[in-house]
Amino acid sequence: MTRLIPVDLISRLNTLGDFLRSNIVGQEEVLEEIVPMLQGSFCEIRFPKRPITSMLFLGPTGVGKTETALLFTEHLFASSEKLVRLDMSEFMTPDSIGVLRGQNTSERGLFGHYYDRSRGSGTFLFDEIEKAHPLINDVFLQILSAARFTLATGETLDLSNYVVVATSNVGSRVLMESRSTDRETIVRRMIQAGTTDFRVETMGRFELQAIFNKLDYQSLQKIGALHTAKCLDLINAQGHSITIEPGVVEYVQREGYSERFGARPMQNAAMRVLKNIVTVEMLRNGGMPVLGRIEYDRRSNKCLIVNQ
Ligand SMILES: Nc1ncnc2c1ncn2[C@@H]1O[C@H](COP(=O)(O)OP(=O)(O)OP(=O)(O)O)[C@@H](O)[C@H]1O
Ligand SMILES: [Mg+2]
Repeated sequence: MTRLIPVDLISRLNTLGDFLRSNIVGQEEVLEEIVPMLQGSFCEIRFPKRPITSMLFLGPTGVGKTETALLFTEHLFASSEKLVRLDMSEFMTPDSIGVLRGQNTSERGLFGHYYDRSRGSGTFLFDEIEKAHPLINDVFLQILSAARFTLATGETLDLSNYVVVATSNVGSRVLMESRSTDRETIVRRMIQAGTTDFRVETMGRFELQAIFNKLDYQSLQKIGALHTAKCLDLINAQGHSITIEPGVVEYVQREGYSERFGARPMQNAAMRVLKNIVTVEMLRNGGMPVLGRIEYDRRSNKCLIVNQ
């Protein structure tokens, strides 16, 4: 018998859960829904003539919605060119449809361009979906139900080899203000809010509605440590040789904590703290690689580098 799925895809599907969990913190429940959905669809257990799968990511700002789409696309398609990202807040007027499909019969529009660039497969990520004009929303519903998009040239694109993800902050005020920590209650309230803010048919068209958590204190602490390590790797990949002591991570965690804005300030704090120190050293030493250990100095409440 012949194998139905290539071996390397099977291996990428098997490692998907671990890969996402090691990069996305505090979203265990939602990853438990997303991973099997992707695994099944990539094993071709799915409806024909529809996108590979379609998922709506709801949740507050900076909690990992876009990052999750980015990561699973890189992991499953083994290429960063495969993510096509469209910010729907740029498509708020009826004439913006022309931008997407082309203005006249000789133009293939933004959609044609992205389709070619991703070579007929990948992930379409529609950010802030609730901001799109109703006309665009109709096109969108057509993509979800038939995996087709017709350009101004008359050519119809086949989108059945794409995952479609839409993200929205709709309903997240409910989540941010809610005192309840019971996930079932939160999910019910978010879906309710989504159903009133979207057109009814939009919500139901997605195969999965994934509600991302608000990031709590502990998750943000872990994210601080994770992103400090990631930023250090980025810096060392430039040719530096730097280590950090635990006090530096704690400093980043204090600097970057924000319940309201989620992980973004934490990620920014990690880079800012390391960047400032390494830059000063590099400019001082005439652009040579920086070697040393970054420590936290309690008295000055600053981080500094100790050359070894
Ligand atoms: N749960 C998380 N675990 C680890 N890192 C995270 C998490 N959430 C967000 N981040 C980091 O914060 C940055 C912003 O996250 P992301 O772009 O996914 O936010 P978002 O949920 O899409 O927010 P928005 O609704 O504002 O678009 C990312 O670069 C990512 O690295
Ligand atoms: Mg986003």
